[in-house]
Amino acid sequence: MSHDRRYEIQGLLDQAGGLTEGAATEVARATGVPEAEVYGVGSFYHLLSRPDAKIRVCTGLSCRMAGADDILKAAELNGLPVEGCTCLAGCDVAPAVLRDRRVLPSVSVEDIHEAKGDWRALRRSARELRDSPAERSAMGRRGRALAESGFHWGAAAERLARLYNSVLKR
Ligand code: FES
Repeated sequence: MSHDRRYEIQGLLDQAGGLTEGAATEVARATGVPEAEVYGVGSFYHLLSRPDAKIRVCTGLSCRMAGADDILKAAELNGLPVEGCTCLAGCDVAPAVLRDRRVLPSVSVEDIHEAKGDWRALRRSARELRDSPAERSAMGRRGRALAESGFHWGAAAERLARLYNSVLKR
């Protein structure tokens, strides 16, 4: 699919208020692009699926391991316009959250509470991370702890041994 075609579909889905019920059918009819492809474009780009969701919490593996589920729940409870999404390419700063169009690194449940329901007030930003040696050090420590706890050779060997044992028991 050409860039122009994709942009046309994005624009039409935006006008329709996102990937709402029937929107893919209408856009497919208007553009002549198969509905499955329209749906694919709309669901692949997080910002198109639900334009009213201003906060998107990544629920990919790295972010889940770092507490994304708690953040998503806290955001819902705090009345933030939120939804879950797939990987935001911020796995090294998990849990990653997309605020409008900016990825916020290492968001905590406390950050969500401090925003008091205002999505614009969710404060962490990549600039804060860049400008804060303490924050960068803390991120490094978290990454090291995560790697040491689950991704060292001993842990890999244990997982492999469990796998072999379960296969041999069959
Ligand atoms: S898994 Fe969350 S940013 Fe990649």
